[in-house]
Amino acid sequence: MNTAQQQYVIREATPDDHGAIYDFSLIASQDETVPEFLRNAGEFINKKVQEGRKGVVLAYYDQELVGLIDADLMDDEIHILSIYVRIDHRRKGLASKLVHSLNDLFPGYSKICATAVTDKGRKFWEANGYVVTQWKLEKKLV
Ligand SMILES: CC(C)(COP(=O)(O)OP(=O)(O)OC[C@H]1O[C@@H](n2cnc3c(N)ncnc32)[C@H](O)[C@@H]1OP(=O)(O)O)[C@@H](O)C(=O)NCCC(=O)NCCS
Repeated sequence: MNTAQQQYVIREATPDDHGAIYDFSLIASQDETVPEFLRNAGEFINKKVQEGRKGVVLAYYDQELVGLIDADLMDDEIHILSIYVRIDHRRKGLASKLVHSLNDLFPGYSKICATAVTDKGRKFWEANGYVVTQWKLEKKLV
């Protein structure tokens, strides 16, 4: 197939995506630039999809899973729990498209929050118009 004509297919996950999500989560789990909580998210995401719960959107390219977003509804807001784009598909606008797809998945909601934000990820959110609105305070216990 002519790669120039290939496009991302972005759609909600179904139980049939189990194998692809499993393989994809293995790739993410080996990416040391990604925080541990995200690297381990694959199992929970697959369980969520198998149980028929809403919120997981996938991006396929040439029948390969290359991007994933997981979101839930909390307090009348859409909360993004994790987002991951395969390294060879970054900086092509794919994560932005995945975030945008949540408007169709959860219509009528007026706010999207991203809570699982890394330092690198923060640049992505800010480029998409997100602003930091909360402080998290913590103290180490000896
Ligand atoms: C963060 C992540 C999801 C971004 O995916 P992506 O598909 O590359 O993002 P987009 O192409 O939609 O980026 C849109 C804009 O965000 C900004 N941006 C994205 N990644 C960036 C980076 N690493 N450094 C600086 N700016 C960045 C840019 O302004 C970019 O537009 P540009 O490419 O025209 O300059 C991806 O890098 C990733 O999967 N990282 C590992 C997982 C992770 O850390 N997830 C937690 C995120 S909080």
